Amino acid sequence: MGWMSWEVFRCETDCAAHPDACINEQLYQQMTDALQTDGYVAAGYTTISIDDCWESGTPGVLRRPGEPLQMNATRFPSGPEALADYIHAKGAKFGIYSDEGTATCEGYPASKGYEDLDAKTFAAWGVDYLKLDGCNNDVRNYATGYAAMGKALQKSVRDIVYSCSWPAYIGDDEAFKPYEAMAEAGCHLWRNWHDVQCDWGSVRTIMNHFGNNTAALKHAAGPGRWNDPDILLAGNDCVTDAEATTQFVIWSILAAPLIMGNDLRHMSASMKQLLLNPEIIAIDQDPLGLPGGRRTKLPGSVEVWTRELRGGDLAVAVYFEKPGKFPLAAVKVGWTPLLVSVRDVVRRESLGVFRRDTVIGVESTAAHSVRMYRLSRLFGPEAEGAVA
Ligand code: GLA
Repeated sequence: MGWMSWEVFRCETDCAAHPDACINEQLYQQMTDALQTDGYVAAGYTTISIDDCWESGTPGVLRRPGEPLQMNATRFPSGPEALADYIHAKGAKFGIYSDEGTATCEGYPASKGYEDLDAKTFAAWGVDYLKLDGCNNDVRNYATGYAAMGKALQKSVRDIVYSCSWPAYIGDDEAFKPYEAMAEAGCHLWRNWHDVQCDWGSVRTIMNHFGNNTAALKHAAGPGRWNDPDILLAGNDCVTDAEATTQFVIWSILAAPLIMGNDLRHMSASMKQLLLNPEIIAIDQDPLGLPGGRRTKLPGSVEVWTRELRGGDLAVAVYFEKPGKFPLAAVKVGWTPLLVSVRDVVRRESLGVFRRDTVIGVESTAAHSVRMYRLSRLFGPEAEGAVA
């Protein structure tokens, strides 16, 4: 869980024209401040990640053999170690970006052939998380390249979380992607597919891709090896609150990394409350570590998504393409015990205890919206008699 700059700040390197929105040390310091002060660190969002365009060098010009990567000294005058110290002092972690190719996606110097050197450099800087992108390479080189960086990180003096973009560059068929090889290469998470863009259509496309590939993607992931459907949009004006909530909820069903892509200095109260919702975060971070997926797609554009949780609990999300109603009976979404305790985790209120075949009327008044429930078992005296 954390925050990453790409979604909002992209590759803005003109700090004279955009002093508050360019890739420089001040941006990451301010985001770290907000992450800590506003309670995101305490909620679990610990990693502040720099994306592309931090590197020194000219886009399009290859790095000189043997030379370590360096940060752009004009935009990061205090250097990477000082930035790492700043982030660590606020109880957060330092994430960085490179690419398993000859250049990053924006053309800056990258790591192909320099995996050992770069892993050592990142460790010396105090890096805790590496996103290794896959631009400017031949797909046939990924298996060796991503494994080389994985090995180099494992030898490192620091524990560095390793995010691989390998699957995002090898097409649409999730059943044929070599996820076992990625886990063996040391990847702890991987960007499976397309970049999310700041609009609802893009979120919906990713949701459909994960829904259509539920079986393969459930198989691919588990504890220590997570699917990453990309950045959370909550906090940006490009989506409605209902749409941002849908993305957050569906991502938690998928056991996705919760990585925010917003401007933490300017957050609405409602989106801050959503991102800090401890009950949805608990579903996302459930210790059983099994990802869920789309269970049913019904005529009228209602979808039911579910995820098994520790202790026999079940997370259920009902998605509405347009305002509507849906009769939810626990037994129809995979619940087997006779009784079920139902809690609305978005609104944070308990609905009561029901028999598994009792129909609960679920209603939505907004387009692209979701309702989410946590179904729990009842134990001991609670289980006797208390049926709504
Ligand atoms: C690719 C990645 C994005 C981002 C950019 C940076 O498009 O998928 O997430 O890292 O490169 O150039």
